[in-house]
Amino acid sequence: MISKKFYLFVFLSILLLLFLFKKNMSPRIVVLISGNGSNLQAIIDAINSKTLNGQIVLVVSNKDSAYGLTRATQAEIPTLIFPLKPYKDLGKTRIEYDIDLAKKIKEYNPNLIVLAGWMHILSEEFLNLFKDINIINLHPALPNQFDGADSIKRAYEAFKKGEITKTGVMVHKVIPDVDKGEPLLIEEVSIFETDSLNDLETRIHTVEHRLIVQCVKKILDELNH
Ligand code: GRF
Repeated sequence: MISKKFYLFVFLSILLLLFLFKKNMSPRIVVLISGNGSNLQAIIDAINSKTLNGQIVLVVSNKDSAYGLTRATQAEIPTLIFPLKPYKDLGKTRIEYDIDLAKKIKEYNPNLIVLAGWMHILSEEFLNLFKDINIINLHPALPNQFDGADSIKRAYEAFKKGEITKTGVMVHKVIPDVDKGEPLLIEEVSIFETDSLNDLETRIHTVEHRLIVQCVKKILDELNH
């Protein structure tokens, strides 16, 4: 006679298989970072709380010192350190670097690539290898304002000179030009007379953490339907 324990075992096994199948089927995200990885963390947290129906299959950093790598390891996400320097030392080009990086990422079969603090421009050669998926970048400024590095500091200084009254955050599609490409989400951020640079940075990062999750959700929802 088959015992109740056996039925329970079969039932739990089916649940486990369904869970693993669903996890394997959820959209695959690769995140590229260069530093702290607080935006990576926002995505990890949103996946863990089921706000996002996706999985991060790889975190790539061009710097081995990036704290985001620790965050990824803590979340049991595979990591890849892929620095440019060895390429430069061998006299290889940026395009060669980008193509090798693209090949490594392709092995993980992503449905979405998120640049979250990635400090390299991606060349056309890289982007051409991912024509059928979204590649998005998070930038702490409004479109066409303060492209490139130190955007928050430059916005703060412009505010102090009376040149601007507000700044913002955007998530945009990636093209082979710094912080350009069609904006997908934009949010304005106020600057106040009493703000220190640190105050503004904190306010902007808070918006970034929300906006990057919102944009990833928008893309994943489209993929899931
Ligand atoms: C963010 O401000 C992002 O907009 C910019 O680089 C910073 C990365 O922060 N491109 P973190 O590494 O996600 O904490």
